[in-house]
Amino acid sequence: MDIDLRPEKKLRESAAARSALGPIIEAVCAAPADLSQLRLVCDWIQYRKNFRDVVVGRPVADTGTEIAVDLRRCGDIEAGDLAGVLASAVKRALSGGDGGRALEPWVAGRESCIWRFNALYWQALSAWENATGREYEQSLPGGESDARNIEAVHELILELFRLWDDLDARHALPEELYVLELGVGNGNQARTWLDEFVRLDQRHGRDYYRRLRYLMGDYSSHVLDRAHKTVVHHGDHVSALVVEATRPGMTLGFLTGKAFLVYISNVYDNLPTDEIACIRGRMYQVQTQAFVPDGDIETLTATYGVDPDTLMSLIGRLLRIGPELLSESAPSHFPDTGRAVAFWRGVWDAVRLRERYVPLEGLDSYQVSQSLTGETLTGEILRPLLEAEGDVRVHVSNGAISSFTGTLPLLHPFGRVQCHDLFLTSPRQYRSGFYGPGKYDGSVVNWVNGPLLQLVANRRGFAVSFTPFRQRPGSNVTTLIAQARD
Ligand SMILES: C[S@@+](CC[C@H](N)C(=O)[O-])C[C@H]1O[C@@H](n2cnc3c(N)ncnc32)[C@H](O)[C@@H]1O
Repeated sequence: MDIDLRPEKKLRESAAARSALGPIIEAVCAAPADLSQLRLVCDWIQYRKNFRDVVVGRPVADTGTEIAVDLRRCGDIEAGDLAGVLASAVKRALSGGDGGRALEPWVAGRESCIWRFNALYWQALSAWENATGREYEQSLPGGESDARNIEAVHELILELFRLWDDLDARHALPEELYVLELGVGNGNQARTWLDEFVRLDQRHGRDYYRRLRYLMGDYSSHVLDRAHKTVVHHGDHVSALVVEATRPGMTLGFLTGKAFLVYISNVYDNLPTDEIACIRGRMYQVQTQAFVPDGDIETLTATYGVDPDTLMSLIGRLLRIGPELLSESAPSHFPDTGRAVAFWRGVWDAVRLRERYVPLEGLDSYQVSQSLTGETLTGEILRPLLEAEGDVRVHVSNGAISSFTGTLPLLHPFGRVQCHDLFLTSPRQYRSGFYGPGKYDGSVVNWVNGPLLQLVANRRGFAVSFTPFRQRPGSNVTTLIAQARD
């Protein structure tokens, strides 16, 4: 049996997690299974809401089963109950018996319907926030977006001024000065940036504000409207555009070679991703299937007075048309939007992902992303990261890679991408932590494979650096800066 204990730091810190290890091993050894075909993986899932039960089983094609345990929640189980709870959970995991009702067939992670839930959250954000009384920012690391940190914004704008002064001195500064923000949320990031820009521009005295064109791009027109209102005092300097962040070139082609800054915060961790694993030297794709467990089916059917089939069809309808229209189309179940949002929240809380490992015939047959011109990036790009780490499971960050590679051509030769987000900065980290997926309120979060972005950018002639977000020490947020190499 292989045993993979990932949460190194948390094991040091948590006596409860350490003392769960003995009962976990006991429960696995007592299970009716060939131990030589078992893998035991222990994680520490930092997201209070997530897609896993405390113990789950994952079939590894042809070779056995992986038992995956969340040590954090094992540590929460009363010591006297631990052995019994784990024994029955392991037995259930091995019998493939998590039951429930599937919301989709088996698919690659990026294809899962959890991303439709995620998009719905941004399309109907106000309805969700009204129901919870919480703004989405409160779920972000630190409780608010780091893009609102004045000191960091100040530094960034002064660097832009230095570049523009320099280009101007060489008569090479274009008349229009473009800045693009992707994933605008409530517009607070834009307001902080633009208000500070005006203040610093007045002090600097070069009248750059007159020439500034700040473009806000997001796939949710609801969010865009809201963000636009937040910066309405900046008038014509701001435009709001519907942009799919994973394909920025589709709507922003006109910006090619012109953007001095592409400014992104807390978006890459919200884009669809696959996972690839190396197990005993063989490559696998992690396939997922979203489902609603039996217990939640019972609760939801009782609460809404429907049978399980009707419940599944209402979930499908919710994902297609959103809570407002769902209430209009099924008023007997949902007399108002609030009731439909309560349904949505109940379903989202219940959604779990089961997983299985399916062999990958070769990394070159796996498509990481495809550009607008049809150029394919294959899994070969992952090889150095996977080969360096032995048995490991990594995010491919497909959405972030597509977004990033689609954004680089928009940059002015001296422009930069600046991005505050949850990045892994070394492939080694995948061996010692859990990096998603987790649930933030109604959205999905996965840390982003930074070394992979770095490799991809290097191939395109860009240098990528990562620095801890200096203005909030101890934060998990890291700043990526990408610029053309000299
Ligand atoms: C967590 S919010 C971040 C907002 C803001 N940047 C901040 O730091 O507060 C993520 C934003 O990305 C947008 N977003 C997520 N996926 C997107 C996609 N595929 N295309 C465009 N926008 C997307 C959401 O609508 C939302 O506005």
